[in-house]
Amino acid sequence: MSTQKLDSIKDNALAAFKAAPSSKDLYDLKVQYLGKNGSLTEIMKEMASLSKEEKPLFGKKVNEVKQLLEGAYLEAEEALKKKEISAKMSAEELDLTLPSYTRSRGAQHPVYMVVDEIFQIMSRLGYSVRTGPLIEKDYYNFEALNIPADHPARDMQDTFFIEKNPDILLRTHTSSVQVRVMEKTQPPIRMIMPGRVFRNEAISARSHCFFHQIEGLYIDKNVSFADLKQTLLFFAKEYFGTETQIRLRPSYFPFTEPSAEMDISCTCKGKGCNLCKYTGWLEILGCGMVDPNVLDFCNIDSKTYSGFAFGMGIERIALLKYQVKDIRIYSENDIRFLRQFSSVL
Ligand code: PHE
Repeated sequence: MSTQKLDSIKDNALAAFKAAPSSKDLYDLKVQYLGKNGSLTEIMKEMASLSKEEKPLFGKKVNEVKQLLEGAYLEAEEALKKKEISAKMSAEELDLTLPSYTRSRGAQHPVYMVVDEIFQIMSRLGYSVRTGPLIEKDYYNFEALNIPADHPARDMQDTFFIEKNPDILLRTHTSSVQVRVMEKTQPPIRMIMPGRVFRNEAISARSHCFFHQIEGLYIDKNVSFADLKQTLLFFAKEYFGTETQIRLRPSYFPFTEPSAEMDISCTCKGKGCNLCKYTGWLEILGCGMVDPNVLDFCNIDSKTYSGFAFGMGIERIALLKYQVKDIRIYSENDIRFLRQFSSVL
């Protein structure tokens, strides 16, 4: 009688385990059959009515059923878990009709786009990049560049002083980096030097108390003004387009001799427009042959070597390239302005 009952418990439990719809139901079934007060515990109580010989045999059988059911439980549990995970995954399936996340794309600052492009062009002529400190000694910004303390050329660049005697200042031009390079490097030197510069000037659409310059320096044996002119012509054609023409006007810088300012032909092709103020030309840079005094200051033998330098305002170049006429906007971090350049990359 008890054996039959045990068999039917076993069969029912196996069938129920297999059919359990969820892990929770399965667990309840486990309690129902294998738990402390479950069917198997109950049936053990019936052993009392069995004979001495039958008792151990029945006990063994109950244990076998117990082990079988425990195994069947684990198996069913595993199968249910798999089913539940895959159901969860398919519920979370990608909905391709959902709108995508828009990832906002950063933009390079227009000032550094100009620097990069100039570097691309000049690197083809063998130039590499150097930078120098923004806070500078008077010596590097003025003195070594042939501008002694009493020189009237100091007035060309209104200076922010940080300390007096010895003078520490915010560099007024990137020419200070020229000196730092020449001081440490013997020719041949071919470098461009970009960076921020400062001048004590009123802020307006056309001038700012800080802006960027990029300086070029080439020192070697037999470098002539013709090399300077060809280099600048190459640069102008590469940067502003092959039809660009250049014009060199005599000028003055204390650290170059002779000195010149370079204009490029305006895109209005001489017809005259607002940008070139009806002259057909746009001024873009200052340049000249490095003054032998400057070379000697930096321990480069001016009898053996000569060279040229040129420097330009980057915001001004950006203004011409991107037709943005107010210089202030380049340093205001207005995201609406900066974002427009993400498509230019
Ligand atoms: N440093 C000059 C300026 O700021 C530009 C310049 C650089 C001129 C190199 C000649 C040679 O105006």
